[in-house]
Amino acid sequence: MKQQLIFTNNTAETIDTLVGRLAPSSLVVITDDNVDRLVLPQLQADSKALAGAYVIKCRPGDENKNLDALSTVWTELERAGATRSSLVLNIGGGMITDMGGFAAAAYKRGMRFINVPTTLLAAVDASVGGKTGINFNGYKNEVGAFAESEAAIISTVYFKTLSHTELLSGYAEMLKHALLQSREAFASLLDFDIDNSTASGERMLALLQTSVEIKRRIVETDLHEHGLRRALNLGHTVGHAFESYAMRRESPVPHGYAVAWGMVVELVISHLMLDFPTELLHSYADYVRTRYGAFDITCDDYPALLELMAHDKKNRTPDIINFSLLRDCGDVVIDSTVSADNIKAALDIYRDLMGI
Ligand SMILES: NC(=O)c1ccc[n+]([C@@H]2O[C@H](COP(=O)([O-])OP(=O)(O)OC[C@H]3O[C@@H](n4cnc5c(N)ncnc54)[C@H](O)[C@@H]3O)[C@@H](O)[C@H]2O)c1
Ligand SMILES: [Zn+2]
Repeated sequence: MKQQLIFTNNTAETIDTLVGRLAPSSLVVITDDNVDRLVLPQLQADSKALAGAYVIKCRPGDENKNLDALSTVWTELERAGATRSSLVLNIGGGMITDMGGFAAAAYKRGMRFINVPTTLLAAVDASVGGKTGINFNGYKNEVGAFAESEAAIISTVYFKTLSHTELLSGYAEMLKHALLQSREAFASLLDFDIDNSTASGERMLALLQTSVEIKRRIVETDLHEHGLRRALNLGHTVGHAFESYAMRRESPVPHGYAVAWGMVVELVISHLMLDFPTELLHSYADYVRTRYGAFDITCDDYPALLELMAHDKKNRTPDIINFSLLRDCGDVVIDSTVSADNIKAALDIYRDLMGI
C-alpha cells in the first residue's frame, strides 16, 4: 500500500507539511456543505495551504454520491483549472472520500489526492485502502476504481460534532475489524462504552489506530481483492442488501448500521456452517440490538434481499452467493458458498435475536 497513514490531532500542520512535500501546481478541496460549515473554517484558519485552495462543495448524503454530483465535481475541477499536477484534498465522510477519490482518479486520467476523513466511518474504513466510487442505478458502489490516496490524515478532533448515529455507524466497522483480528480485540471494543465515552479522546485515537492497522495489514496483502481482502466483506453481503433495500423503501439507513445488522446474520450463518461460538454470537447480537436497534424485515422481504445479495459485485457468478465467514474471532473463511435455505434460516434467527 503506497498510501501513507498519519494519525494526528494536528491536522492543519500535517496538511501544510504534506502539501509542501508534494508541491502541487494547485490545491482543490472537495467537501460537502455540512463539513464546509463545521470543519473547514477552523482548518482554513490554521492551514496556510488551505487558505488559497479552490473549494468544491457537494450536497451531503449518500444519495448524492451519484453520477450527477460526480459530473458537477469534474466541471468544477475544470473551472478551477486543475491539471494532472494539481492535488485534491477530500475533506469529509466516506461519501466525499469515495466520490472525491473517484473524481480525482479519473480526471485527466488520474491526479493525486489526500483524504482527510471527518467521520469515524471514513477514518476507520472508507478513507483507507484505495476503493473509490459512486452508487449507480440503485446499486451501492456500482461504478468505481481502485485508487490510493497519497495519504490519509486520521484524527479524532472532528468527531465532536458527529451525531451519535454517525459514531455508531463507524463503530460497526471497528467491530468488524476486531472480529477479524482476535477475541481480545473484540472484547476490548465491547468493553469500550461508545455511548458515554469521549469519541474525540486519546483512548478513541488509540482504538482507531489499532483498527485501521488491522485493515491496512489485510489490504497490503491483497490490494485488488483477489483473495484475503474479501475478509473485509464480513457483514457486507447482507449489509449491502439491507442498505440497498432500505434505499428502495425510501428510508435509507447509515452504512455502518446496515453492516452491524448484516454481521449478525453472517455470524449466524458462521455458527450454522462453521460452529462460530454461540456465546460470541449472543454477546455481539445483544450489543447490536441494544445500541443499533434492528433492521425490520419479515419473510416477505427475503426474495428481494436474496436477489440483492446475489447481485453483490463480489459474487462472481450470479447464482452463487459468496460470504466471508468466521470459525472464531480471527479465523476467517473467505469464499464460503451459502445456500438460499441457509440464508433464509439465518434471517429467521436474526429476527429472533433482534426481537422482531
Ligand atoms: N471506500 C471504502 O472502502 C468504503 C468503506 C466503507 C464505507 N464507504 C462509503 O462511505 C460512505 C459512508 O460514510 P459516512 O458515514 O462517513 O457518510 P457521509 O460522508 O455521508 O457522512 C455522514 C454525514 O455526516 C456529515 N459529516 C461529516 N463529517 C462531519 C463532522 N465532522 N461533523 C458533523 N457532521 C459531519 C456529512 O455531511 C453527512 O451528512 C458510504 O458511501 C459508503 O459506501 C466506503
Ligand atoms: Zn463497510
